[in-house]
Amino acid sequence: MARHDSPPANPSATTLAELEATAARLELSPGWIERKQPIFWAAPRSDFKPAHWHYSQARAALQDAAGLVDLSMAERRILALRNPFPGNNFATTRTLSCAYQLMLPGEVASTHRHASHALRVMLDARGTYSIVDGVKMPMETGDIVLTPGGFWHGHGHGGDSPACWLDGLDIPLTHLLEPMYFEPYPDRFQPARVEASSSPYRFAAADIARRLDLAAPDPEGRHGPCIGLEARDMGSMGLTVERLAAGLKTRRQRSTASRCFVVMAGSGTSIVGDQTFAWNRGDTIAVPTWIWYEHKAEDDAQLFCLSDEPVMKMCNYFRHEAA
Ligand SMILES: [Fe+2]
Repeated sequence: MARHDSPPANPSATTLAELEATAARLELSPGWIERKQPIFWAAPRSDFKPAHWHYSQARAALQDAAGLVDLSMAERRILALRNPFPGNNFATTRTLSCAYQLMLPGEVASTHRHASHALRVMLDARGTYSIVDGVKMPMETGDIVLTPGGFWHGHGHGGDSPACWLDGLDIPLTHLLEPMYFEPYPDRFQPARVEASSSPYRFAAADIARRLDLAAPDPEGRHGPCIGLEARDMGSMGLTVERLAAGLKTRRQRSTASRCFVVMAGSGTSIVGDQTFAWNRGDTIAVPTWIWYEHKAEDDAQLFCLSDEPVMKMCNYFRHEAA
C-alpha cells in the first residue's frame, strides 16, 4: 500500500509579504486582504435588473422564427427572457429562466428530460398537449402545466393556429448547484400510455378561476385574491396566481425571493425599483431580490408569479417587508 507522507513544513515567514506569498502558493486566501469582490455586504443585492418583456413583441419575433427555424433542427422554438446586464444570455433572475415558445399546427417537440424543473403558462393555445412521463394532458389557454425535473416531456400541437406560451424553469439554480443533466428520449418521442385532463401537474384555467372565486385578498393589501399552486416534485419553485380588480393597487413590497410575474389577463402598471412598466396580457416582469415593487391594475387582471421563495425559506434566507 502506498504511503502518504505529509508535505514538508513551510519555512517560517518573517514578513507579511512572505506569508501571503506562501499562502498563495498553498491556495490559501488570507482573510485580512482587501478583496476585489467582498464576501459579505450590508444588505441583499442583485446583479439582476427590473425588467419587462412584451408578449406582443416576443410573439411577433417567434412567428418570424417559425418561418426560419424548423423544429426538426431545434429542440424547442423559444426566445429566452434575458435579464439585461452584461454577460448574461438567458437567466431572467438569479435562479429562474423564462422563455416564450411557439409551436405551429401539426408540430411535435421531441421528448427529453433534464434536472431543471419546468412549467408552462399557456397564453394562446387550442389543441396543444404535453406528454409528461407518458401521461398526455391538454395545454390550453390559461392552463399551467408542470414538468418536474427528471420527468420525460414532449409537446404536440393538434390545433389550427400557432400556439404560444411562457416556459418557466430553474436552470440558473441548477447551474449554481451543479446537478444539471440533459437526456434525449431514446426513440425521440415518448408515446402516451394514458390521456388525462386531471393531473397533479396540470392546473386547468377553469379550476384556477374557480379557486380564485373563493380566495380572499390579503388583508394587509400586498395582493388581491390569491391562490398557491402546489409545485409537486418541484421544490425550488413557488407558484401563485392572483387577481387584481380594475383600479386595485398593491402595497409597495420587497422580499429576498426573486420573482417572475406573467400577465395571464388584463393590463396595468408595475413599479419595480425605479422603473414603471405598463403591461398587457402575456407580458412578463422580472423582480430581482430585494427590489421594491407594486402593481396597479388598469382593468381586471390575473397575474401568475413564479418565484424561488421555497428555496429562500428552506435556507432560512427569506425576508419580506411592505411599505
Ligand atoms: Fe424541457
